Amino acid sequence: MGIKYNEKKKIFQMNTQHTTYLIGITKEGYIGHIYYGKRLQKEGSSYLLRTEEAPYTPSVNEREKMAFLDFFPFEYPTGGIGDFRESCLDVRGENGSIGCELLFCNGYIEKGKPALIELPASFGTEEEVETLDLVCEDKVLELKVVLSYSVFEECDVITRSVRIENTGTQALKLEKVYSACLDMDNKDFEMVALTGSWARERYIRRNPVQYGKQMVSSARGESSHQEHPFLALVTPNTTQETGEVYAMNFVYSGNFIAQAELNQFGQIRMAMGIHSDYFCWNLKAGESFQAPEVVLTYSAEGLGKMTRQFHDFYRNHLIRSPYQYKKRPILINNWEATYFDFNSDKLLAIAKEAKKAGIEMLVMDDGWFGKRNFDDNSLGDWTVNEEKITSGLLDLVTKVKELGMEFGIWFEPEMVSPDSDLYRKHPDWAIQIPGRRPTMCRMQYVLDLSKPEVVEYAYQCVADILRSAPISYVKWDMNRQLSDIGSSYLGKDSQGELMHRYVLGLYQMQERLVTEFPNLLLENCSGGGARFDAGMLYYSPQIWCSDDTDAIERLRIQEGTALIYPLATMGAHISDCPNHIVGRNTPFETRGHVALAGTFGYELDITKISDKERQMIPEQVEMCHKYQSLMQRGDYYRLASWTEKKPYDCWEVAAKDKTEALVTFVQVLAEPNIHSRVIYLRGLEEDAEYQLEGTEESYTGEELMRCGYLIPSPLSPDKRGDFQSCLYHFLKK
Ligand code: GLA
Repeated sequence: MGIKYNEKKKIFQMNTQHTTYLIGITKEGYIGHIYYGKRLQKEGSSYLLRTEEAPYTPSVNEREKMAFLDFFPFEYPTGGIGDFRESCLDVRGENGSIGCELLFCNGYIEKGKPALIELPASFGTEEEVETLDLVCEDKVLELKVVLSYSVFEECDVITRSVRIENTGTQALKLEKVYSACLDMDNKDFEMVALTGSWARERYIRRNPVQYGKQMVSSARGESSHQEHPFLALVTPNTTQETGEVYAMNFVYSGNFIAQAELNQFGQIRMAMGIHSDYFCWNLKAGESFQAPEVVLTYSAEGLGKMTRQFHDFYRNHLIRSPYQYKKRPILINNWEATYFDFNSDKLLAIAKEAKKAGIEMLVMDDGWFGKRNFDDNSLGDWTVNEEKITSGLLDLVTKVKELGMEFGIWFEPEMVSPDSDLYRKHPDWAIQIPGRRPTMCRMQYVLDLSKPEVVEYAYQCVADILRSAPISYVKWDMNRQLSDIGSSYLGKDSQGELMHRYVLGLYQMQERLVTEFPNLLLENCSGGGARFDAGMLYYSPQIWCSDDTDAIERLRIQEGTALIYPLATMGAHISDCPNHIVGRNTPFETRGHVALAGTFGYELDITKISDKERQMIPEQVEMCHKYQSLMQRGDYYRLASWTEKKPYDCWEVAAKDKTEALVTFVQVLAEPNIHSRVIYLRGLEEDAEYQLEGTEESYTGEELMRCGYLIPSPLSPDKRGDFQSCLYHFLKK
């Protein structure tokens, strides 16, 4: 299997199919990072630790221990003792000082991978994964630290996490606990990150790594619209197909940091973990702290390979939902159709028309509870508003089911409106600082999920509604970020635990939900895509990608999101035009083609759109049925990117067995006087013959991949103008 220990050399070698990761232990017991990269065919050795170079290790040259600490490539660097680069662990002892030095005690290799207490994490069978635990300790603090590495050989993925145990008698404080670190020599790295804002989430950003520290992070209480818990370091000129990529992605939904630091010796330290802002965890005698998991992958074949490694890994080792590979119902959501202005009759009218078109589920969005006709009230009062849902929820659900459709519902369980019975009764359940007026956002406050009673209440509100009617789907929303970080429940010494305890409370609720309602299709959401992360994917197989449903904006948002996450995780809907966010008009067909690269659904008033568009829906529904399985299981290739200044956008999904491939081409802006364009397909069998469906054209795989396929311009005589798109389906003969 993948992990070996060479006792003589004191080297742990982890091999996946195409990668090797080497850890070396020095004479003193420092745990050093030797190598991560393309697979070594033979056993590695430890010269890269440079312990033979002056100033040597402390046992040889105690006089210059600091120079050693500030240079040595650590697997898990600690703060306060002389490594002045970013530390991964800062511990404050009972005497008030910060300082920690970890030395190796033991290493254990076991088959399989244990679950992480209270946290989402990847999983695999004993045949699929092997785990190395490196146990180290700080004798002064009486602190034990376990560095865990799980090797998923087939996937070229290594996951890392850290467990800290207080084995002594002091009351310790963890002021920073990161989950992973990679110390490497710089290869002129560039950093690839995902950044954005509301309605433009996860744009791909690439910058050269400069001297000093650069990072993406969030201290907003969620992974955020703005910066994403992902970081890749790539060698210069890395493309989809070439170049080296070192990538980290965090299986966590709260505050994070992902940082690259270039230092005085041209070394790079790449680190990821919970953000230390607002964080301080009490670790009393006998207690332990589990840090979340980082997924680490390396590709020697560019970003495309990294993407496919992440996709396969998340599909097979993180997403647990029974819907993972199952057909997902094509839904229609009433948010952009009605906003708050709806009642049972309006919903039923939409459902009836939707059913005729082949749509399979009605989702009732925000506004069905309390007295909510606008966003300034009632969060927390999860009782059905019978002025709008006139004969009750069960009756509405029953009627929708009688039409032959499933029913879904929206919640925002983590929130409370100041104008709500809940807040009037329990103002202390909101996160706030005593004596300070909390900052309002969307006229709402955040519930204090560190308090078990609040978690219980919020969970039961959701569960009671689900118990009251046969509801198949929940959209779980979260529409503001955390500020005024104070909890009336946690004591004054524990306020620094609130942000992480909030995330644990959230995970606890979602775990209960998927356990009590195992067949529920859960879609997470956060003001669009502010909590689209690997942590949430452990609970829900799909996440609403963005409130921006404009097909052209979505090209960029979905390209960035699909850089790491499988297509079938991206909530994508066809909405009305002019688009409600950007005011753009795009062809109905293009909106369908773009939504097909996600979960595919509708977000419009089907009773009000033009007859022409309504008549196109059954065809789109059929298209979704035809390709859904391919989209869920296939290999994704980015063939051209509009955001990289091409006038068009193009991606392909190829079946794993190479029997078919679907290419989506979007001509973003029409161009005059141009000839056809060449695009190069990927992932086909070179010798096989492929027919373009609906034509007599046929090509060898080799031709399509090497010589390319010619996309006509305009795409067809009837597809002139901006924002036109086309699908090309190649089938192996
Ligand atoms: C968020 C979601 C939207 C919608 C509204 C309802 O913004 O992203 O899809 O559900 O909340 O208030």
